[in-house]
Amino acid sequence: MKPAVLLTRRIPSLVLSRLRAACEVDLHAEDEAIPSADLRARVAGKQALLCLLTDRVDRDVIAAGADLKIIANIAVGYDNVDVAAALERGIAVTNTPDVLTEATAELTWALILAATRRIPEGDRLLRRGAWKGWALDFMLGMELRGKQLGIVGLGRIGSAVASRAAAFGMTVAACTLEGQATRAGSSSPLPMPTAHMMPLDRLLSTSDVVTLHLPLTPATRHLIDRAALMRMKRTAFLVNTARGPVVDEAALAWALSERLIAGAALDVYENEPRVHPALFDLDNVVLAPHLGSATSETRTAMAALAVDNVLAVLQGAPPLTPVPGR
Ligand code: DGY
Repeated sequence: MKPAVLLTRRIPSLVLSRLRAACEVDLHAEDEAIPSADLRARVAGKQALLCLLTDRVDRDVIAAGADLKIIANIAVGYDNVDVAAALERGIAVTNTPDVLTEATAELTWALILAATRRIPEGDRLLRRGAWKGWALDFMLGMELRGKQLGIVGLGRIGSAVASRAAAFGMTVAACTLEGQATRAGSSSPLPMPTAHMMPLDRLLSTSDVVTLHLPLTPATRHLIDRAALMRMKRTAFLVNTARGPVVDEAALAWALSERLIAGAALDVYENEPRVHPALFDLDNVVLAPHLGSATSETRTAMAALAVDNVLAVLQGAPPLTPVPGR
């Protein structure tokens, strides 16, 4: 008999066929996230759970999955999974590192450029017919050449962002928080520039663009709060493609409206899919709907890696990309 697997969202058909060839797949095929009551009910009797960052896999879900051998999260971040509860039960937890590094680094640069050159703001202006023509002092942005890029979290994605900085003539400052791994030997195809390592406070007060590349943990929740924002230069930009709760969204809306910083670009939010309403009224923030890894190539690779993890564990082999236990 094939092992039973719960898959909480559609994945590319070729990857799904590979999973179906080896497992009995219970697929939640709707466009919305699986309701938590359904998740608890349908995980019962399953040996593997393939889930997304939008699924809260808490202690109750894990208790309901009495036969689970693996929870394969189709994301690099795994703050949605109670890893301690899973490991206590001997359930492997895996994520999808590496395969989304370059896509997320590219999106980070897209946001840096969009914010510093005011592209969405200009787009909105054009569409409402408000453009009066070229003028010397019209919609001036900030040039990147010669500026300092401050990278908070020099892991895989932070390093891939750093490796693109030379193309824009930026110097790189970086800081890591205690316990976060650095990737000096990043897998990025581009050479890694020298990053000037410095404490967070100094990075915030000296950088022209601050970009966040940290996992969400109790230590990083609201790392960027009012005090941190007040340390930044008034001309600086904040970019977040990591996890929403790393930034205190209300504090950011306040700092942007008071022009304590020049601008921000966000791909992630504290309570997705909700966005702090004050942000919608501000022209100096670029808002993207969690698109960091959203390329066809990367999303296929993420699903394939999660399926590889499931198949390995169900065949009695070690998982390929286990998350570290806390
Ligand atoms: C992840 O994998 O954690 C990303 O946020 C998905 O886009």
